[in-house]
Amino acid sequence: MVSSSSISPVLLLLVVHIIPVSPVGDERSPGKNRKRVPPVLHTEPPVLDPIKEAYAYCNIPNRTERGWEGHSPADYELLSVQVMIRHGDRYPLYAIPKTKRPAVDCMLVPYRSPSHPLLATFINHMSWGGRGRWDPTLSALPRLPSHSMCEMGELTQTGIVQHLRNGQLLRDAYMKRHRLLRPGWTARQLYVESTGKSRTLQSGLALLYGLLPDFDWAEVLVQHQASTLFCGAHCDCPARNRYLEEEQRRQYRLRVADTELDRTYADMARMVGVAPRQLRAANPVDSLTCHLCHGLSFPCTAQGCLSPRQLAIIKRQQLEDEEDRRRQGLYHRYALLAAHPFLNRTAGCMLRAAEGRDGGEALAVFSAHDVTLVPLLSALGLAKARFPRFAARLVFELWRIPPQPRQEDGSSERQRLFVRILYDGEDVTFQTAFCQSRERHPGQPLCPFDNFLSFVRRDMFRTLNATSYQEACHRRPV
Ligand SMILES: *[C@@H]1O[C@H](CO)[C@@H](O)[C@H](O)[C@H]1NC(C)=O
Ligand SMILES: *[C@@H]1O[C@H](CO)[C@@H](O)[C@H](O)[C@H]1NC(C)=O
Ligand SMILES: *[C@@H]1O[C@H](CO)[C@@H](O)[C@H](O)[C@H]1NC(C)=O
Repeated sequence: MVSSSSISPVLLLLVVHIIPVSPVGDERSPGKNRKRVPPVLHTEPPVLDPIKEAYAYCNIPNRTERGWEGHSPADYELLSVQVMIRHGDRYPLYAIPKTKRPAVDCMLVPYRSPSHPLLATFINHMSWGGRGRWDPTLSALPRLPSHSMCEMGELTQTGIVQHLRNGQLLRDAYMKRHRLLRPGWTARQLYVESTGKSRTLQSGLALLYGLLPDFDWAEVLVQHQASTLFCGAHCDCPARNRYLEEEQRRQYRLRVADTELDRTYADMARMVGVAPRQLRAANPVDSLTCHLCHGLSFPCTAQGCLSPRQLAIIKRQQLEDEEDRRRQGLYHRYALLAAHPFLNRTAGCMLRAAEGRDGGEALAVFSAHDVTLVPLLSALGLAKARFPRFAARLVFELWRIPPQPRQEDGSSERQRLFVRILYDGEDVTFQTAFCQSRERHPGQPLCPFDNFLSFVRRDMFRTLNATSYQEACHRRPV
């Protein structure tokens, strides 16, 4: 069941409306990236424009995106790629009481903007989905969004297009350049997993189609993940829940101390004609963001219209909350425990891929939520990464370098394995906790796999004064 193993509805509500904080990847010039100059660390927190941040979160597919996935020296061999995505643009999960819902059409129409060259064939290919092998939970879900008035939480055409684009970008990086899966690949080389929501399933299928157009349904088995933390059989962790509760109390204290925010909610509630508490519970930022992402004017009542200024104030408070959260570190402790099972599984899969064993798929796709990605980013030490926008992608690459002449003997096969971590196309490998301090050799632009492995197996628990997941999860509170 989702409830026991994932985040409480309270935090879901709180986390849902935290927004990006760090400067976006676009600010780095491609030239810098090619030479692999260390990322510039901002000493002062950048002053952020809440509305600009809201647009970044929308991820409107109106420009060509670049990504650094698949870049490496020519003689490196790509062994395995694991992609964790957030679902694409969706309809709000909550409605603002007593106002008209945003008019968004969730039917897929290839000639309507935003479109994609693959959209028409994608729609057709999904109609043959019955030929695939399905986990029963997922086979009951629609494989395409289909309501002319979107349902709550439904993926939109924008969301599908975002992932077709992601898929195509990864196809160029991994299939064309590196032949990660060769023609005639089978289910042994591909792993796909999704939570039990139609928006994640559909996002995963769109990404897969962009990556492998006209894939053979007979080779696709989509697995169901019951936990939004992707913790599988390792979800039981009492300490994780305690850290989460402490974090929620911190978040609550900060919020109630914000008088401007309070006034804003009161104004909005008066305009709409409900109690402030009821308005807050309807999480209006979620709905207003949808208006913004789809270029719709904000809802009005007889008392007036909700305004971008009100959205900006709520977003401003969320940005401050992110800052405070980083400083206090409670969330990071939660995140380490929340992310461990998935990271442990990623490391295990990489090892098997390197050894050519079963369960070491060349390509794995995990279709998830913001509440999956936020803890992963925090646990990896990417605290300054932006809040996952719609269709965000986090990629783990495993590479093998050629035998090194000087270490011919004495060096194990494992020392030839290296990892790269990319977030929305930006190479963040050397911002991670396990590769930050590593001195970079000009000839070695990747991070040793052993760093990642020791981090996952032991080092990540140091912050929690423990040496294992079991110990960190089950130690009694002091
Ligand atoms: C894409 O849309 C955003 C938000 O409306 C806008 O700020 C930006 O200028 C647009 N970019 C292009 C290339 O049209
Ligand atoms: C970590 O992965 C190993 C296999 O690689 C597995 O045996 C172990 O149970 C996993 N532990 C957790 C806590 O996920
Ligand atoms: C770990 O131990 C140190 C020193 O005893 C203490 O200050 C810190 O709060 C502990 N951290 C956790 C997460 O228990």
